[in-house]
Formats: sequence, C-alpha cells, structure tokens
Amino acid sequence: MSRTDERLYRRALEVMPGGNTRSTLFVAPHPPYAVRGSGAEVADADGHVVIDCNNNYTALIHGHADPEILHTVHEVAAGGTAFGLPTRYEVEMAELLRERTGGIAQWRFCNSGTEAVMMLIRAARAHTGRDIIIRFEGSYHGTYDAVVSSAAKGVPASLASSVVEVPQADIDAVERALSRHRGRVAAVLIDLMPNRAGLTPADARDITRLAELARAHDVLLAVDEVITFRLEPGGLHARYGLQPDLVSLGKVIGGGFPVGAVGGSAEILSSFSPLADGPVAWGGTFSANPVTMAAGMVALRRFTGESINNLNARGDALRSRLNQHGVTAHGSGSLIRLIVDDPAATWWDLYRAGVLAGTNGLLAMSTAMTDEQIARIGDAVIAVCGARTR
Ligand SMILES: Cc1ncc(COP(=O)(O)O)c(C=O)c1O
Repeated sequence: MSRTDERLYRRALEVMPGGNTRSTLFVAPHPPYAVRGSGAEVADADGHVVIDCNNNYTALIHGHADPEILHTVHEVAAGGTAFGLPTRYEVEMAELLRERTGGIAQWRFCNSGTEAVMMLIRAARAHTGRDIIIRFEGSYHGTYDAVVSSAAKGVPASLASSVVEVPQADIDAVERALSRHRGRVAAVLIDLMPNRAGLTPADARDITRLAELARAHDVLLAVDEVITFRLEPGGLHARYGLQPDLVSLGKVIGGGFPVGAVGGSAEILSSFSPLADGPVAWGGTFSANPVTMAAGMVALRRFTGESINNLNARGDALRSRLNQHGVTAHGSGSLIRLIVDDPAATWWDLYRAGVLAGTNGLLAMSTAMTDEQIARIGDAVIAVCGARTR
C-alpha cells in the first residue's frame, strides 16, 4: 500500500464510516484508490497497473474511457446534462431495449439497479394489488428493504410478512410458498445466474417449472437482469425461452454512467402512467438523463449478437482453461466467478499479480481486453488460485 493511499485513507476514515462508500468493494485493510482507467487497464495511486476484470462490477462492457462513448458524452453534455423535461434519448433507449428484448413493450428509467428492483417490486404490487414477493436466498438484488434479509439491522422486522425467502434454486419451496400464501403473492423474483450465490446458471427445467407455477398461481414472474443482461442481446431469460412479466436492468445499459431500468408489458407498467387513475409515482431527479441514455445506447449498439457471442466465447475459453488447471470457476460467457476459501487474500494476491477482480472473486470480461491480456489474466489466476480453490 502506498503512502499516498495511506494518507487518503486516514482522511477518509475521518469523514466516511470505514473510509469508503460502497461496502461491495471494501477489502481489508482498505482498498487501493483508483487514479485512472483506460481500456482494459486501471492504475492506482502507486502507479501499479492492473487488468480490470472487475469492470465496475460488470457494468463497463467496453472498459474505461471508451473513445466513442466519451465523444458522445462530450457532445450531449455540451447541450446540457439534465433537464426538468423529458428528452428524445429516453425514448430512443426504450425503443432500443424493446427491440433487443424481442418485445418487452414498455420501459422506465432510474439511476441504479437497486432502484430498478425497488420499482419492479412496486409495479408488481401495484398491478396485482398483492403484497408478497417470493425471492431466493443468497441472490443479491441491491439494497432495497424488500430484497435484503429482514433480520438485517435497519430493516423493519414487519417486512418479513410481505417477503418470502426460499432456498436457492428450490422450486418445490416456491410451490409450497405459493400454496401457503395463495392469492397474496404479487411476484416471484429471480436472478437466473446469481453472482452472490455462486454464479451457477439456473437449471432450464427448474425455470420452465417456475414459469408454469407462476402462471398457474396467477403471479408475476420478475427477472432481475442487472448483471446477466450482458450475456444475450435481450438478456439471459431469452436463453431459457422465458417471457418474464417484469425485468430489471442496470449496469451495462448505462455505458459507464449510473442507470437502472424496469421493463414490462404496457398493462403492467400502466400503473406508472400519469394518465392512469391514481398513478404510482416514479421520480428521480436524474432518471433518464440524456448523458446516461446516450452513453448507454452507444455501448449497447456496439454490443450486439456477434460481439456478445465473441466476448462470451472468450470468457468460456478462459473459464475452461482455469478449470483445467484445477481452479474452481463458475459462470457463463463473459462472467466468471472464482470459488475460493479466502476471497480477501485472493483479491490481494490477484491485485499484486496485476488483476483487479471483484471482492468475491467475480471476473467480468470487457471488449477492451486483448488476447494477450486475457492470457495474462489466466496466468495470474492459475498462479494465485491453483492452490487455493476448493
Ligand atoms: C442482480 C443484481 N440486482 C441488482 C443490483 C443492484 O444494482 P446497483 O448496484 O446498480 O444498485 C445488483 C448489483 O450488483 C445485482 O447484481
């Protein structure tokens, strides 16, 4: 750790609990400070350069400071960064998402995946007139009350009556919960490849059964694609032939800027329409701001079928190489999760070896990575994790 980092960290401790904002990127004793990012690389205050496999927790599909995104951002921002009026950019982004998802008809935007999940739940409850959300233990959906443990400090215990948590991938438990709470369930919320739960893709037969159960019990099926949207042009649900009632997006669709989105049918999202009777409010001072929308569209237009397949193939090849060397690596396509006994120690060893991972061992590929960089990532992970994974 450099002296610059230490000085900054001491100042940070005075003004921020634990010294930084995002719990998700804290590693003890404290993370290094990023100074600069370019393409697939990030430099810290020491001048130590790492290949970025974190990519801001999977959001940066084209790496850092992508010239085309920067050009668009400069151009759009020069005309104003946010308005108390809608702009054409949100309309175009909604059209783009409708096309990519093969017909999820309507969209609304916000500033994070957390907000997207919050509003998805609000939409489900408003549309059905019911309170209960069924979700899977171990899946991370952000920090809204309804998707964190009701036992967590700061979350009202009363929330437990409107959320049912079932064991990960346990469709029998979903069926039991649907029967027990018949007529009171608004939606089942699922992430088809939950990172925190180990980044294992859901079993296709389970998902077919889940969809049938949702239909039979007349509850909405909501898919959280905040991370998984990068795996297919329309999101991972397309691979399962699934037609979700609601989806939440974030991360890659912002082109490196804060974003979230909820998609669904016109009927389900009509609760938000100001033309509706007693509309459900959807605010957000910076929601759908033109800079985010424009940056996101540039990122997505360059990330279509062929480039998605290409990046997924490179991710699959890296994962196979790691597996062949005895490293336990889960995931699919451009998302890889190292399963290790000591994530913090592994994080630091990888960092010293020139690879920036997620604090839980998540690696996310970007189109900015060269073959040579991917080979170096493989070498570093094998050297660090070969002896460590279980
Ligand atoms: C599946 C999933 N949903 C929701 C979120 C929350 O998104 P954000 O961090 O943008 O609030 C995340 C964040 O990692 C996520 O992985």
